[in-house]
Amino acid sequence: MASEKNLVIGMFGFGVVGEGLYKILKQTPSLKASIKKVCIKDTKKKRNAPAEIFTSEKDDILLDPEINVIVEVINDSKAGYEIVTTALKNGKDVVSASKKMLSEHLAELIELQESTGRSLLYEASSCASIPVIRNLEEYYDNDLLHSIKAIVNGSTNFILTKMFEEHLNFKEALLLAQQLGFAESDPKLDIEGYDAAHKWVLLLAHSYGIITSIDNMLFNGITQINELDAKVAQSRGLSIKLVGQAKKLYNGKIASFLLPQFVEQTDQLYFVKNEYNGVVIESGFSDKQFFYGKGAGSFPTASAVLSDIGALRYGYRYEYKKKNQHTAAQLSNDFHLRVFISFEDLGNIPKDEFESIEEWHSGNERSYLIGTIPFTALYKKDWWKTNNTSLILMPNNIVEHTELIELKKMSLSLAGLEI
Ligand code: HSE
Repeated sequence: MASEKNLVIGMFGFGVVGEGLYKILKQTPSLKASIKKVCIKDTKKKRNAPAEIFTSEKDDILLDPEINVIVEVINDSKAGYEIVTTALKNGKDVVSASKKMLSEHLAELIELQESTGRSLLYEASSCASIPVIRNLEEYYDNDLLHSIKAIVNGSTNFILTKMFEEHLNFKEALLLAQQLGFAESDPKLDIEGYDAAHKWVLLLAHSYGIITSIDNMLFNGITQINELDAKVAQSRGLSIKLVGQAKKLYNGKIASFLLPQFVEQTDQLYFVKNEYNGVVIESGFSDKQFFYGKGAGSFPTASAVLSDIGALRYGYRYEYKKKNQHTAAQLSNDFHLRVFISFEDLGNIPKDEFESIEEWHSGNERSYLIGTIPFTALYKKDWWKTNNTSLILMPNNIVEHTELIELKKMSLSLAGLEI
């Protein structure tokens, strides 16, 4: 067994997660890890910890040779990047929960871990309390991962649950998510899908070794979901969730996106409510597995930081094995999506782009259609996000080339034509 290291922690940030970690560490003396200093911006603010551990001078931590672990749990991704990179270069191991910062600089941070030989762990950054990153790294460390789909943002899941099950309006539900400490300080990051997309970048790296950015991702949040969408969901026994999805296609490449979806009751994600997150993984031999746990909040997030700190005692590092495989996976644009689209004016919908339309309902104020459309008709396009249009993926949403031929045959034979 590797020898245990004594951990002396310097922490940046004492907000929801930082204070949670401080309290948890006091209750886990067996870990042999102690917080020596905490760097904060506002030293005048009253804190629930002895005044002598606080400093506003970052070098009190970054240049202290006794401190060997940096915990970075601040809100400012620019400052977070400076702290994390300096700490690694100064020979310290780092635990971070800053998903935005990590996803924006992932390639560089991976290189920096290699060149410094130090470790950067970030289990808390995706799905908070659910140990998904380390499982993807260690347990699913081969190329047999068929698919992963997940609810990765607690606030939006909380808001959707409160709106559809307790009939709160959007504003009330968001306010509650903010009061409970789930939402980002800029809640746009949650409701417009950015936070989830940042997390999806990290999960893609550990699922398939794909290092990308949110600029190359098809994603959206929940702000366009409206009453008609909710009624359609209810009438069909479906729920609406914001879901990230990646799947290995027949061509060996990976389909990936993060969008609102109609979720069926037979899907494990249907029962993931409030601030909980859930991850469904399908792999070659183990078949389907489901991870479930709190995806936001002080102690659930701090528990993942604590677990990373524990792993550092044994010198644990991510190996990014899938990224380093000789046939690294690639993202694909060559597939179709089965979508529900509700809209006010058909003139704003490019009907000709659809491969097939299976349902069509027109109403006085809003209408909707369900159909199959190429991924490329949505990717880097914004017609489906503007003019009060709402796009929600249908169940069984990925349609591949071979299935498309079947679909075409079906719609032509329905129309009484031969092919
Ligand atoms: N705002 C984030 C969420 C916090 O709601 O999921 C946890 O990352």
